[in-house]
Amino acid sequence: MTELFSLAGEVALVTGAGSGIGQRLAVGLAEAGADVACFDLASSTGLAETVSRIAALGRRAVAARGDVTNGKDLADAVEVAERLGPLSVALNCAGIANAAPAEEMPREQWQRMYDVNVTGVFLSCQAEAKVMLGRRRGAIVNIASMSGVIVNRGILQAHYNSAKAAVIHLSRSLAMEWSDRGVRVNSISPGYTATPMNIRPEVADQVKQFAADTPLGRMATVDELVGPAVFLASRAASFCTGIDLLVDGGFVCW
Ligand SMILES: NC(=O)c1ccc[n+]([C@@H]2O[C@H](COP(=O)([O-])OP(=O)(O)OC[C@H]3O[C@@H](n4cnc5c(N)ncnc54)[C@H](O)[C@@H]3O)[C@@H](O)[C@H]2O)c1
Repeated sequence: MTELFSLAGEVALVTGAGSGIGQRLAVGLAEAGADVACFDLASSTGLAETVSRIAALGRRAVAARGDVTNGKDLADAVEVAERLGPLSVALNCAGIANAAPAEEMPREQWQRMYDVNVTGVFLSCQAEAKVMLGRRRGAIVNIASMSGVIVNRGILQAHYNSAKAAVIHLSRSLAMEWSDRGVRVNSISPGYTATPMNIRPEVADQVKQFAADTPLGRMATVDELVGPAVFLASRAASFCTGIDLLVDGGFVCW
């Protein structure tokens, strides 16, 4: 049974692998048996730690640095990943968050959110699928958010919420384009999760409220996203494509 969830022999690329969810999921894929290429910004301080945590598990890991808004950086990252073998799994976790009242939000702030959180995911999928489609084999998982489904009470982030809704529908759209070509595309929509993203100043006072507002009474740990990600990346999810898996402690039920 555990073989269904095994990623032994798979080669994965994880964007945003230097911090938070992406870092934990890169290690999680390795725990499930994959070799992993870890992609993050040149300025990322955590990427080397991700690579060494994976190596400590006895799996192969490589670092690739660049920006998800740059298609060439992503093509290069795919090339680096393929030094480990044919790319078969991709987790697109890179993302940003910030807040501002909609009526005052500078266009640049709006545009940057879309550039990273929507275009960045599209360009990542494009680069990854280019090699996967040729072999008719691949599983892509995009990290969206429950903010793509609900509006977070008290957080002024129209740009983030709408960008995450776009990621969910982008994932479905790509899933349909590639459904007969061997590449599955799904998304995971985490609820409030304890990561560096939640220590940004705008949300400092709200973190206690996040836990209180979540039916399970707390934020998720990054560990709790590993199972859903490994599931969607693995053979266990062979009939899942175009789904959005909400991992939110029950948040959207209320
Ligand atoms: N933390 C939460 O509560 C939460 C909830 C739902 C969804 N998410 C989503 O999960 C993903 C990961 O968030 P996190 O909480 O781990 O945040 P994080 O800030 O800890 O990690 C994000 C990573 O993405 C990288 N990144 C940012 N912009 C990039 C770019 N242009 N190119 C390459 N890499 C870039 C950062 O360097 C960082 O390492 C994001 O897409 C976020 O929107 C987070």
